[in-house]
Amino acid sequence: MSSPRETPNDPEVSEAQIAVHWKEEPRIDPPAEFVAQANVADVAVRGRFAIGRFPECFREYAELLDWATPWHTTLDTERAPFYRWFVGGTLNAAYNCVDRHLARHASKPAFIWVPEPEGEPSRVLTYRDLYEHVNAFAALLRDRAGVNAGDRVTIHLPMVPELPISMLACARLGAIHSVVFGGFSGDACGVRIADSGSRVLVTMDGSYRNGKWLDHRGTADVAVAAARREGQEVDHRLFWRRHPERPGAVAPPAAGRDLDVNAELRRRRGSLVPPVPMPAEAPLFLMYTSGTTGRPKGCQHSTGGYLAYAVGTSRIYQDLHPEDIYWCLADIGWITGHSYIVYGPLALATTSVLYEGVPTFPDPARTWRIAAKLGVTTLHTSPTTIRLLRKADPDGPRRFDLRFKHLTTVGEPIEPEVWRWYYETVGRKRAVIVDTWWQTETGGVLCSTIPGLDPMKPGSTGPAALGIFPSIVDDEGVEVPAGSGRAGNLCIRNPWPGMFQTIWGDPERFLATYFRKYNRAPHSRDWRDWPYFAGDGATQSADGYFRVLGRVDDVINVAGHRLGTKEIESACLSVPDVAEAAVVPVHDELKGRRPEVYLALKPGSADPGAVVLAVARAIENQIGKIARPRAIRVVPDMPKTRSGKIMRRVLSALSNAQDVGDITTLANPEAVAAIQAMIDVRGRASPARVPDPAGPSDTNQ
Ligand code: WT7
Repeated sequence: MSSPRETPNDPEVSEAQIAVHWKEEPRIDPPAEFVAQANVADVAVRGRFAIGRFPECFREYAELLDWATPWHTTLDTERAPFYRWFVGGTLNAAYNCVDRHLARHASKPAFIWVPEPEGEPSRVLTYRDLYEHVNAFAALLRDRAGVNAGDRVTIHLPMVPELPISMLACARLGAIHSVVFGGFSGDACGVRIADSGSRVLVTMDGSYRNGKWLDHRGTADVAVAAARREGQEVDHRLFWRRHPERPGAVAPPAAGRDLDVNAELRRRRGSLVPPVPMPAEAPLFLMYTSGTTGRPKGCQHSTGGYLAYAVGTSRIYQDLHPEDIYWCLADIGWITGHSYIVYGPLALATTSVLYEGVPTFPDPARTWRIAAKLGVTTLHTSPTTIRLLRKADPDGPRRFDLRFKHLTTVGEPIEPEVWRWYYETVGRKRAVIVDTWWQTETGGVLCSTIPGLDPMKPGSTGPAALGIFPSIVDDEGVEVPAGSGRAGNLCIRNPWPGMFQTIWGDPERFLATYFRKYNRAPHSRDWRDWPYFAGDGATQSADGYFRVLGRVDDVINVAGHRLGTKEIESACLSVPDVAEAAVVPVHDELKGRRPEVYLALKPGSADPGAVVLAVARAIENQIGKIARPRAIRVVPDMPKTRSGKIMRRVLSALSNAQDVGDITTLANPEAVAAIQAMIDVRGRASPARVPDPAGPSDTNQ
């Protein structure tokens, strides 16, 4: 790990190397009004979660749930690092999120759904409504699609209440859901269907985004075809209707396979399906994320450990109370939405706002209008969205009667300047800011301030979460002294209930990616020998607060979402004229990072302009709009090491207008000057911008 200006001779670029380093910011106490009402404002909680109390400390989270059978062993490390939490216990996630609230909260709204078109009225779903819908849809899954406990069901839906309903219906049956973010292309969905072995796809006819009707039916056709190419048949497609009241056919003629869900449910009204008690370690869901190789990883999360961690951290870090109106702007198709829209908040009987569309549609004030109208107390979003809202209308929040008491940021480092806008203009210094660091793999928050207890520090996530014991380790495995402010790789020394259990179908990749690097004894059953390698660079300052610098692997964090450079490169290489492709992260003032693509063409290739367009299309079709590069450059020659490896680090330095460092050891140092000249001619302010075949991209978090 090194400072951003240094350029070590490592051929692979790391984001931390180009991360922005901020100076230490002064700490700010949480507003007294907030502290007075906080769920946790007593420092004794730290004692309860001290290392000597591990792992039993996590009982406190599990006890927030209703168990069908109590567990006998809190943590089983027999097959470390494939840990088992709350062994012997059984429970049902849907029961915990819905049924158990009926006694006291039947008529309390679980969701207030706000459609994107402003003329369309909001829809309120009470806990009783949710109970009825989940039961009816579970009956449909079971009786018409043959779904049983342990089966995988892929869900590709926009931000509509039907998404949590579909997830909870799977959970009710003990089936494993795999939600694919609605913005992923049909091809990307198909690859995930095949990897998970899903025979059932739940989708919708369409939805609204940025004022446009998006056709999901066509996407579902592409997904099924892509899955088939990978050897997986989809036996049933279940189509929800975005406008159930409107007539017209939703299911295409392949009637045996396609079901019109709303029509079926009208016939099934009142169906009840008993919740299936599942072992704590039964998988609850898969969530695909990007890694170092092209193939996405299906992170497998457990029922008991995951749910316990989601509910415990929702209570402590989101500080949810029964009377709060909570709005998390993340898409449910990402882990943030799973843990902090669906499972954690519902297990606490929270009222959540669910919004279909883009935060700035039809104008930048939309977010503030919704928040003011619904009396949102607790807002949860990403730095990218905050930057976007700030840029679009810096004084917007002042024009509305906003009553926030708690504001979360997640997904990327937040610049202190942006943090201050969130705190001063959005929160009016009356709301606490909570910067939470975690990952798809971790299931819940791992670093954060406890909002009622700890001072805030702009640009730093905060200390380790309760029961989490991180360390910062150098590449040789030597721990950087705690609190020294020196950068290294962020690791977690201990297991925790929310951590993923494995990568679906690929336990070897689970071991290799996260544990082998720092493992002390390959057959050890002692968790102390298995530090978790998070893939992020970080520093820890003397007060114990962590500052996350960014990825140290081939992952680009775009608008708080992970994209693998290899995934994008393999999309580029699917275009026949492309000989070589290299993707590097480039700093972007709104999205944090965006990919930039360098291409070398095969000899005698056609018009480079046509290839650029074909590559842009390939990326959009194979991954989705979120992966759209900021620029695609056709270069005469890629800079390479003498062993023939493309020097992505050098390309990244060029893209980011940084010093390329020592290039004398390259096989072809002249290639660097040629690319530099190309960039200078085009001008860095307006790089070879990628034509947009489908309108502006959006942030989705
Ligand atoms: C990566 C994980 C956590 C849910 C959303 C993203 C980056 C996450 C922070 C933060 C700085 C952050 C890391 C991490 N990240 N939170 N508060 N400060 N960086 O989940 O898609 O799995 O991405 O997001 O680089 O590794 P994800």
